[in-house]
Amino acid sequence: MTSTLPFPAARPRPPFDRGRLLVHLAALSPIALAWWDARQAAAAILINPVQAVSQRSGFTALSLLVATLAVTPLGALLGRPRLVRHRRTLGLYAFAWAMAHASITLWDFSWIEGAFDWASLKDAVIDKPYALVGFTSFCLLLPLAVTSTKGWMRRLGRRWTRLHRLIYGIAPLVVLHYLWSVKADWRPPAAFGVGVALLLALRLPELRRRAADWGRRRRAAAP
Ligand code: HEM
Repeated sequence: MTSTLPFPAARPRPPFDRGRLLVHLAALSPIALAWWDARQAAAAILINPVQAVSQRSGFTALSLLVATLAVTPLGALLGRPRLVRHRRTLGLYAFAWAMAHASITLWDFSWIEGAFDWASLKDAVIDKPYALVGFTSFCLLLPLAVTSTKGWMRRLGRRWTRLHRLIYGIAPLVVLHYLWSVKADWRPPAAFGVGVALLLALRLPELRRRAADWGRRRRAAAP
């Protein structure tokens, strides 16, 4: 049936998605913390503001990477498969924070006395194994971010799924990078390690089935 209106009928507006708003706010809120770091530096409270911002961005990137991995098992446990719609957004935010972290750190390594110093950059990345591991994780994240669009999904077909399984290797690599980079307290990276190991274990078919059954039973028993 054709419209009798002199103008095309307006498309129904999609309902307001509170979940999406929360995801954007959570992923962007560390900017405020980075701004706070900068202010403290201006007040000379922080001795090395570049290091503080680098740590803040690296920590945020890893947290968002873990959140990306958590979306599918959490959806199955809670019986909310629609949570999966946040996976791409979280993954892209993880990449954006990783890019900020890598850029700040590489700039800090290479910008010596107001000029670019290739030798310092090479020494810092090649000679520090943990930095090399970080650099490798960043290089592996790059193709995932580039191919995250629907167009690439269509073009690559089943190869897209295989390519994006790289995330299962990248997450432990980043945990190793974190663990190796800390000088004193190894407990936060170890906690990330346990979290990542658990999320990867939940990908095993048997454990995935058991977790989904457990979630179903709990929901059925809830008043
Ligand atoms: C070019 C790539 C990278 C380089 C050169 C690099 C370098 C570094 C350096 C030097 C530190 C130690 C900062 C300090 O304590 O002084 C660090 C910490 C860290 N990096 Fe990276 N990194 C890279 C990529 C990544 C990526 C891709 C991620 C996550 C997706 C990441 C996550 C972290 C985390 C979580 C920390 C610890 C932050 C904290 O202490 O709270 N890094 N990185």
